[in-house]
Amino acid sequence: MEKIKSYITPIHLLVGNLILLFLFVHIGCANDEDDNLFGSVNVLSEGISPLPEYIPIPETNELTAEKISLGKQLFWDPILSGNKDITCATCHHPEKGYADALDVSIGVGGSGLGEQRNGTVLANRNAQTVVNSAFNGITRNGEVNPIAAPMFWDNRALSLEEQSLLPLLSKEEMRGLNIPENELYQSIIDRLEVIPEYKKAFLNAFGTDEITTDRIARAIASFERSLVAPNSPFDSYMRGELTAMTQQQINGMNAFVNVGCAECHSGPMFSDYQLHALGIPDNPKLSETDAGTGTYAFRTPTLRNLSFTPPYMHNGMHTSLEEVMNFYEEISEGDDDIINANLTVNDIDPLVRELHMEDDVSDAIIAFLEALNDPNFDKTVPSSVPSGLPVGGNIHN
Ligand code: HEC
Ligand code: HEC
Repeated sequence: MEKIKSYITPIHLLVGNLILLFLFVHIGCANDEDDNLFGSVNVLSEGISPLPEYIPIPETNELTAEKISLGKQLFWDPILSGNKDITCATCHHPEKGYADALDVSIGVGGSGLGEQRNGTVLANRNAQTVVNSAFNGITRNGEVNPIAAPMFWDNRALSLEEQSLLPLLSKEEMRGLNIPENELYQSIIDRLEVIPEYKKAFLNAFGTDEITTDRIARAIASFERSLVAPNSPFDSYMRGELTAMTQQQINGMNAFVNVGCAECHSGPMFSDYQLHALGIPDNPKLSETDAGTGTYAFRTPTLRNLSFTPPYMHNGMHTSLEEVMNFYEEISEGDDDIINANLTVNDIDPLVRELHMEDDVSDAIIAFLEALNDPNFDKTVPSSVPSGLPVGGNIHN
């Protein structure tokens, strides 16, 4: 088995960060007099930092090329869905930044891809991107525990391994109505067992050709771990390449911290991985209110690769970053017309109500958010999948 090596060791990273810290303290001193929202700050000490240049890998699931390759086949193969019509890639498609470009995802029985997708069964929330989900849970100090990595808008699953089996079971996302929940895993295994190409791929990945849900989970999680994009202009800038961001983006970065965005959007993923109530309304397409874990609080999303993943928020109702910035301006001015009908202003997280949006910071912050894009993730689509079914499911209108 070919083991995937981290291409830079943590010790190098540590030395790199110490150099950067020096650099930023220095820049910080040079501009001490700036006291407006664009004034320079030591962003590292304020909690935003580049991604590490290695992939966090759990000891229980060593990353190998064979597992990644099997995981990719499973990710794209409709054989894993109850009615053989939908795949992970239907809602997490490389052309849509490994999300689906819809406000809320359309599940089983649907047809088409992205904005062109039609169907009546909804998955109720905006699909999150899978890119960089290998870093979920990373702290301000760059520590990650991949077996406890929080997943979903409400953090209800821990680790890519645990997450990867849940869409299969979900009646709306992949299972459909024909297979009872308690028979689902066995019926998927039975289907895979009779496909020689899968037997061989499991043998290559795991040393024997036994097919289990645990192995399916580990293969899919391995493929997802290969979908990292740690080289945005911001990352290059923070690693010392000072021309990687424009002056407007640097101003936007300072404003992002000074305004208070980094109170929640912190660390290398621009998320504290905590739940906060912003008062985002329910999507009117839903038949019931979505209170998350009960208090309408949802996980701070990553701000990486936003150019590829509109629309925004758990309800998918903000179609642009301008709209998101308007929302924060209105909330910080105490406007309660825009919040969820089940909440009052006092239910909204004080960190949002107290944002300093006095100056016109939106353009600069949006320019900064654009410096968090790295388009260099694997966008290749397999030409076929072992079942012989349509690659990606019923997405080819
Ligand atoms: C019908 C569309 C749909 C399908 C099919 C689907 N997903 Fe998702 N995925 C979503 C939605 C919607 C969310 C957010 C759900 C939530 O938070 O409750 C999500 C969330 C995730 C997350 C969490 C990311 C994060 O940062 O927390 C991962 C990882 C993921 N999906 C992987 C997969 C895999 C692997 C498969 C296939 C086994 C799959 N998805 C199938 C729509 C889908
Ligand atoms: C109290 C913590 C908190 C603060 C402060 C905060 N955010 Fe957020 N942000 C969140 C949460 C939580 C969500 C998701 C809310 C939801 O969908 O219910 C979010 C969503 C977003 C999104 C949508 C991303 C996506 O993929 O859907 C953007 C963009 C964003 N915030 C940018 C900012 C900016 C810029 C600031 C500063 C002006 C800021 N945030 C301040 C917690 C915060």
